[in-house]
Amino acid sequence: MSRVALVTGGTRGIGAAISVALKNAGYRVAANYAGNDEKARAFHEATGVPVFKWDVSDYAACGEGIARIESEIGPVEVLVNNAGITRDAMFHKMTPQQWHEVINTNLTGLFNMTHQVWTGMRDRSFGRIVNISSINGQKGQMGQANYSAAKAGDLGFTKALAQEGAAKNITVNAICPGYIGTEMVLAVPEKVLNERIIPQIPVGRLGEPEEIARCVTFLASDDAGFITGSTLTANGGQFFV
Ligand code: CAA
Repeated sequence: MSRVALVTGGTRGIGAAISVALKNAGYRVAANYAGNDEKARAFHEATGVPVFKWDVSDYAACGEGIARIESEIGPVEVLVNNAGITRDAMFHKMTPQQWHEVINTNLTGLFNMTHQVWTGMRDRSFGRIVNISSINGQKGQMGQANYSAAKAGDLGFTKALAQEGAAKNITVNAICPGYIGTEMVLAVPEKVLNERIIPQIPVGRLGEPEEIARCVTFLASDDAGFITGSTLTANGGQFFV
């Protein structure tokens, strides 16, 4: 039987491309989403991938959602922590709410999700965790003290957990996308995007969601069993670690 993969934020943007790529690679995919029912319904109708609604910043909701997926589809063997939000503001204008919303979703969300599949992966001696961090967690980004902190935290989480999972055949890796042509990036003011961001990308364009999805498919595969704790950078040459 094919493996079960769960993708958070899996019905839109990079997450939708990941869900489709994993489905095409033969996984039984479940896509989580938090809010946009209309987009989730359209995604499900277009792809056939089952969709499940809960907020990854809510630990109890993650437990209930995963339990439902495991009873309906099977134990989660591949978890892609992709769900993420932005609440961009210069730090002097950033509110505690903007800080907490981003930390709770983009960092604590990884704890909330991973913690609930970890014991099962340990018991079965197999697991793949792929965390979608960001170039802005590596280099920092003005207007994103909250987001950069969370995404840098995701990298520390990845490296710590990789060491714990290794003996149980669970790999934990991160991908740092650069600026990808999704709604999240296209929400950046046009002037900032065109004059400040795209000129900094040596390949001269935004990335495509499928370019990140292919990285996930590789890290989830048996072929990637010796790769753990790593950060795969896919940013068109914008930043080298
Ligand atoms: N890179 C370089 N310069 C930037 C910048 C960026 N990403 N964002 C803002 N600036 C510059 C602006 O061009 C502006 O410079 P000038 O005064 O010289 O014109 C200055 O910073 C102040 O910006 P604003 O006038 O826009 O200030 P504001 O208070 O109205 O808005 C902001 C601030 C909300 C941060 C807005 O500028 C913004 O949304 N910037 C984009 C921030 C960003 O890059 N977010 C990434 C979102 S995509 C993502 O997060 C996915 C991922 O993982 C890569």
